[in-house]
Amino acid sequence: MTVRRSIDQINEDSLIFHELHQALLGWFSNAARDLPWRRVRDPYRILVAEVMLQQTQVDRVLPKYEAFLERFPTIQALAEASTADVIRMWTGLGYNRRAVNLQRAAREIIERYGGIFPQDVGILVTLPGIGPYTAGAVACFAFEQDVAFMDTNIRRVMRRVFTDPTEAVTERALLELARAALPVGRSWAWNQALMELGSLICTADAPACWRCPLRDLCRDYAARRASDEHLAPTPARKRIAERRERPFIGSNRYFRGRIIEALRALPPGATLALNDLGPQVRAEYTPNDETWLTALIRGLERDGLVVWNDAGVRLPE
Ligand code: ADE
Repeated sequence: MTVRRSIDQINEDSLIFHELHQALLGWFSNAARDLPWRRVRDPYRILVAEVMLQQTQVDRVLPKYEAFLERFPTIQALAEASTADVIRMWTGLGYNRRAVNLQRAAREIIERYGGIFPQDVGILVTLPGIGPYTAGAVACFAFEQDVAFMDTNIRRVMRRVFTDPTEAVTERALLELARAALPVGRSWAWNQALMELGSLICTADAPACWRCPLRDLCRDYAARRASDEHLAPTPARKRIAERRERPFIGSNRYFRGRIIEALRALPPGATLALNDLGPQVRAEYTPNDETWLTALIRGLERDGLVVWNDAGVRLPE
């Protein structure tokens, strides 16, 4: 590739990026849902929202987010709360380990950083339960930094708009692309808009391309129109839809949730003996299932979700 060619390429890319910015940011300013975490820049509130949203749908998060912040309005309040209370406030959200890690992160921010929320992605990722996605989201959504990060929605939109649908793309290459595409100074709206497009229009199994603001700039749309596929579900899309339908009842995650549910119902500090806990977790429980139940409890204990001693099993205080 000659120098001249690469300069042309750069010019062409920035022109496309410019068009994308106009189209997506324009759409977002009209179509964005009014979500409470979009109205604030308080890093604590943003962190709570992003952790809740990691594996839970917006509609289910909304009431829980408000209730959680009412109960623990500041990072200090969360750090000082009993872990049992935090797990109780997590009821209905699932993946309870997130609640314990969120409190551990709050405690670390108080103890190690004097209550001053770190702004640096490199520091944020060292906090419990905070991976590259959450660290990037906090840096961008609370501190308005020009940071790129990937979640399932952003990844899908990036993949479809920018890449050849027949080619494999590494996560690293996608992230590079996401960085190059950031509109400097407007990354807060850009990242929110990518997520919004992914959840409202550019969905996994039924993308609504006819009302997509990026349709004319999208490689996936162009490719499918060229091959006359007419947006029929691709094998990958069918697999995604099937996976989503697969029930999780009977899985370890399901039974872990049942154990936490049983313990949440106890008065503060009370414990349950294994023989009383078993039938509440699974109706057909017999003493032969004790090894199975014990393994689940050990896993929860490792994650800081339960305490198990001679008196029985309980939530941590
Ligand atoms: N999912 C994860 N983060 C989100 C956000 N900030 N807004 C909407 N959905 C999200």
